[in-house]
Amino acid sequence: MMKTHNCYVPHEAEIIERVQETPDIFTWHLRFSDAEIAQHYRFRHGQFNMLYLYGVGEVAISVMSGDGENLWHTVRAVGRVTKAMMDLPVGSRIGVRGPFGSYWPLDIARGKDVVFVTAGLGCAPVMSSIRYVVEHRQDYGRLVIMQSVRHRHESLWEPQYEAWRALPNTQVLLTASRDQTRWPNWELGRVSVLLEKADYNKEECVVMMCGPDAMMRDTAMTLKGLGVTAANIYVSLERNMQCAVGHCGHCQLGGKFVCKDGPVFPWPEVEALMCVKEY
Ligand SMILES: Cc1cc2nc3c(=O)[nH]c(=O)nc-3n(C[C@H](O)[C@H](O)[C@H](O)COP(=O)(O)OP(=O)(O)OC[C@H]3O[C@@H](n4cnc5c(N)ncnc54)[C@H](O)[C@@H]3O)c2cc1C
Ligand code: FES
Repeated sequence: MMKTHNCYVPHEAEIIERVQETPDIFTWHLRFSDAEIAQHYRFRHGQFNMLYLYGVGEVAISVMSGDGENLWHTVRAVGRVTKAMMDLPVGSRIGVRGPFGSYWPLDIARGKDVVFVTAGLGCAPVMSSIRYVVEHRQDYGRLVIMQSVRHRHESLWEPQYEAWRALPNTQVLLTASRDQTRWPNWELGRVSVLLEKADYNKEECVVMMCGPDAMMRDTAMTLKGLGVTAANIYVSLERNMQCAVGHCGHCQLGGKFVCKDGPVFPWPEVEALMCVKEY
């Protein structure tokens, strides 16, 4: 845990390295300035940090991997704060609060087939979980990774996916929904195309999913139709966050706070709300 108990106080971290992944997506390698905080920082797979650009604002960003000394975040520049963040050079300092929120059910998934379904940058919140399953392969059944992007060139970690494809008892399925060219090892279309090809035990699996709400809703419905128990489907939700600790109500979804009760939810907990248009 962090040294301070005040969850509103950000800790300073330095940008050690930055990678421009695509014109609007960058990855930061951060290190806490305070060695004690760096040493004690721990996150669970699927949790997020609040990253604070001094004087501009704060945004929720999933922890991609690492620890307090080597913390990795991948960010898409979409608006006021994230676009300003993209301009920061190596050596700049930002504020970090966290980690916050619920995490992927890697314990519950032990002994079962594990299925990851992501679209777009939804792959960032599951990357650390996939790595965990790969590193603890003997504890899990079959591993199926499905990733959808609009264009192949938007696929951030293709070499990583290709390396996973070579592992035993593992299936990696990639698709580009707006490309015209059929690339080797790539499908054309949305996640639904991949679901037809995925091979796993529908009765003994845990599904972890992250992407746009509509994709997760449609995929959850399809999976249920295929025989996957709703309680074995988990989704990670994105909502506008401010406090990140259940105080301000900005992220409220029905009776739940996405920051505190989520962002990772078992599907039955959010199904009714996710099926309400524009909720
Ligand atoms: C739990 C959680 C984890 C997240 N993890 C990540 C992550 O790992 N990487 C990442 O890049 N983002 C992540 N996000 C989304 C990120 O928090 C928002 O993109 C960010 O808050 C936008 O802030 P801004 O000030 O730059 O944009 P704003 O000025 O608030 O928004 C500008 C415009 O962008 C739109 N917009 C806002 N958010 C998004 C979005 N996510 N996608 C597309 N358009 C959007 C708004 O509707 C608005 O039109 C996460 C969000 C949550 C809740
Ligand atoms: S962000 Fe304040 S209650 Fe969730």
